[in-house]
Amino acid sequence: MNARDDARKMGAWLDSVHAKGDPFAAAIRSTRMSMLITDPRQPDNPIVFANDAFVHLTGFPREEVIGRNCRFLQGPETSRASVRKMREAIAAREDVFVELLNYRKDGEPFWNSVFISPVKDESGEAVFFFASQFNISRHKDREHRLTTDKNYFEEEVLARTAELEQALKAKTMLLHEVDHRTKNNLQLINSLLMLQARRVTDEASRNVLRATQERIEALGAVQRLLYQEHNVDTFDLSAFIRDLAGNLIAAGGRTDIETEFQLESIEISASRAAPIGLLINEVLTNAMKHAFVNERPGRIVLAARRDGDELRIKIADDGVGVRKDAPDHRTFGTTLIETLARQLRATLKRSDGNPGMVIEIAMPLDSVSK
Ligand SMILES: Nc1ncnc2c1ncn2[C@@H]1O[C@H](COP(=O)(O)OP(=O)(O)OP(=O)(O)O)[C@@H](O)[C@H]1O
Ligand SMILES: [Mg+2]
Repeated sequence: MNARDDARKMGAWLDSVHAKGDPFAAAIRSTRMSMLITDPRQPDNPIVFANDAFVHLTGFPREEVIGRNCRFLQGPETSRASVRKMREAIAAREDVFVELLNYRKDGEPFWNSVFISPVKDESGEAVFFFASQFNISRHKDREHRLTTDKNYFEEEVLARTAELEQALKAKTMLLHEVDHRTKNNLQLINSLLMLQARRVTDEASRNVLRATQERIEALGAVQRLLYQEHNVDTFDLSAFIRDLAGNLIAAGGRTDIETEFQLESIEISASRAAPIGLLINEVLTNAMKHAFVNERPGRIVLAARRDGDELRIKIADDGVGVRKDAPDHRTFGTTLIETLARQLRATLKRSDGNPGMVIEIAMPLDSVSK
């Protein structure tokens, strides 16, 4: 009890030297900020003064506070590290600021924002410590809520991403399956045509079947390119033209026909890939079939470019040009070309290449890019 008496005495002394009329003392007594003064020269640095706000904040009556070290505010959840930080600063007679969990007399915890500062005399000795406390529980609650909400949303995003990845995987698998079946079906049609062609004795009919087979192969090339790319919505026209030309020349076994590509990279809608692929196949097949007869060597130039809002394709050969013995009846190839052109809103121009033949196809880009 001796120590507490000393603390009380010191408090009373402080009171007396800062009696009524001292505006600083009055301010400390009546401020809403909880404040304490401790005496480090007494054993265990006891509280010698506590204002009304401190009593209100902690729920401890003043007589239970004076003479005790502040640690009675600590409890089971108080951070040891924060306490150590305070203790070390006090021992070193330095200012310290900590936020720590304290407990009221009724046991209710609250977040306390504590600032402690030594009060030194002329010789530099710490004669008092001044401490202010501020309840920041609401602020801490909000902080806690924010982190909980953030964690919740992060988990939601992760879960949703996983779902979408799963859905994408399923979609990709389906797409591969459809692609696989389409290729199989095209192959099946090709085999049917081949079997049929073998049984047909009439030369003309056999040629018709063979030409149809080639058209199916062109569709196969379109299909191959469509699903080779990551993006299945669009179709790389220049890649297709290269692919098709390579295939046709290889299939014809013509090492004496050169190709020259003047191709801009042009993406067209996947849904327009088949008609445009077939159209180019017809024109290119014609060049291969009709321009370089009697082992005439030569060169085919394949160009594709954007021109304003038009797509322009040019297929030029330096072969024999329009032949005198060209069929005077309407051929299937020409009908097919015209039908496809109409479908694509394309215009076709055939001109003399001197030598050879030049076919120019122009179509509005918006009819192939949507
Ligand atoms: N690049 C070319 N060089 C020379 N003649 C060509 C060329 N392209 C087309 N022709 C001529 O135009 C004709 C018509 O071509 P079209 O594609 O309509 O018929 P086809 O190729 O003879 O038969 P198919 O119906 O199998 O296509 C050809 O028979 C050929 O005489
Ligand atoms: Mg033809």
